[in-house]
Amino acid sequence: MTPGPSAAGPRLVVGKLGLTDRIFAGVRSRRLLATVEEGLARVELSLARELRVSDTLADTTSRYLYEAGGKRIRPMLAVLTAQLGEGATVEVVDAAAALEMTHLGSLYHDDVMDGADVRRGVPSAQTVWGNNIAILTGDLLFSRASQIMARFGERAIRLQADTFERLVLGQMHETVGPQPGDDPVAFYLQVLSDKTGSLIATAAMAGVIFSHGPSELEEPIRTFGEKAGVAFQLLDDVIDLSANPDETGKVPGTDLRAGVPTMPYLLLGERTDAASRALRGSIDEGVARIADGADASLLDAPLARLRDHDATRDTLRLAHEWSQHAIDALAPVPDGPVREALTRFAQAVADRSS
Ligand code: IPE
Ligand code: IPE
Ligand code: MG
Ligand code: MG
Repeated sequence: MTPGPSAAGPRLVVGKLGLTDRIFAGVRSRRLLATVEEGLARVELSLARELRVSDTLADTTSRYLYEAGGKRIRPMLAVLTAQLGEGATVEVVDAAAALEMTHLGSLYHDDVMDGADVRRGVPSAQTVWGNNIAILTGDLLFSRASQIMARFGERAIRLQADTFERLVLGQMHETVGPQPGDDPVAFYLQVLSDKTGSLIATAAMAGVIFSHGPSELEEPIRTFGEKAGVAFQLLDDVIDLSANPDETGKVPGTDLRAGVPTMPYLLLGERTDAASRALRGSIDEGVARIADGADASLLDAPLARLRDHDATRDTLRLAHEWSQHAIDALAPVPDGPVREALTRFAQAVADRSS
């Protein structure tokens, strides 16, 4: 029997994580919140409709992670920035659904690449159907996303293709790692911009474009999304160390146990004191032994030490810096509830626990 998402635990949704409350705090934002929620409900309807596939297996597999939940931060940004124009038009809603579908497809592939067993609180797709079906489901979702964008003309389909290319190259560069002469931290920040910042940036900019908002705000909002996306992904690295699985729907330490470097690990590697070197040595040794078949729990203690190490505090500091860069990019956006909510979004993503 196929394990259904409902059997595996509660859906992880944006409201539960408190992001909405933080972003739309204050009396001025209440009306905006209602408008954004109404737009997001339409994105959900669009997703439910567009994810239908006549093939029974493909229908089940492509709805699987969608039905398991997700924070929907990309559609939320699109609907929010659409308020700088004519609001959540049909184009905004469907483009937001296409971008969320692109994100969704990337999760199927990412879990195969990272060897992740759990996603959104449910067994990852490849643990249920195997790698081939998980990869093909991701491909199907990418095709569907392109079909939706193609309805809105050449600019939309180019935006989709360019964004997806960056995401793929980010994942590829992360896999290959820095080459001789590359600075590992700068290289990794570029990976984060490409694999995560690109799609969040496009989602934010899509709201302006498809609501016929002021064209001079497209680039500042894109930059905002890109920088906030890096801050968001830096926190993902910290969460990888400290995750409460009930809250995040992920297994703590998934990336590092699979030998995928994250920012705390890279910053640890820049330290020359004996304790830091010893910790890095024991993580590397643990990763090698796990690759040879040892139980992944042998890294529990070293990962707990990394979580409490200055390298993790430095990662949090870096996330705050990127969040501030995102806020700085909002300078041309007129004062008002939308700018306020975007500012709070950037602060919240650098300060989240799930
Ligand atoms: C997870 O993204 C993958 C990253 C790019 C960090 P999210 O944290 O937005 O995942 P969901 O959609 O809420 O599950
Ligand atoms: C995911 O990055 C990025 C994309 C899916 C493009 P991670 O591998 O760091 O994200 P999680 O932790 O699995 O969600
Ligand atoms: Mg992953
Ligand atoms: Mg990954």
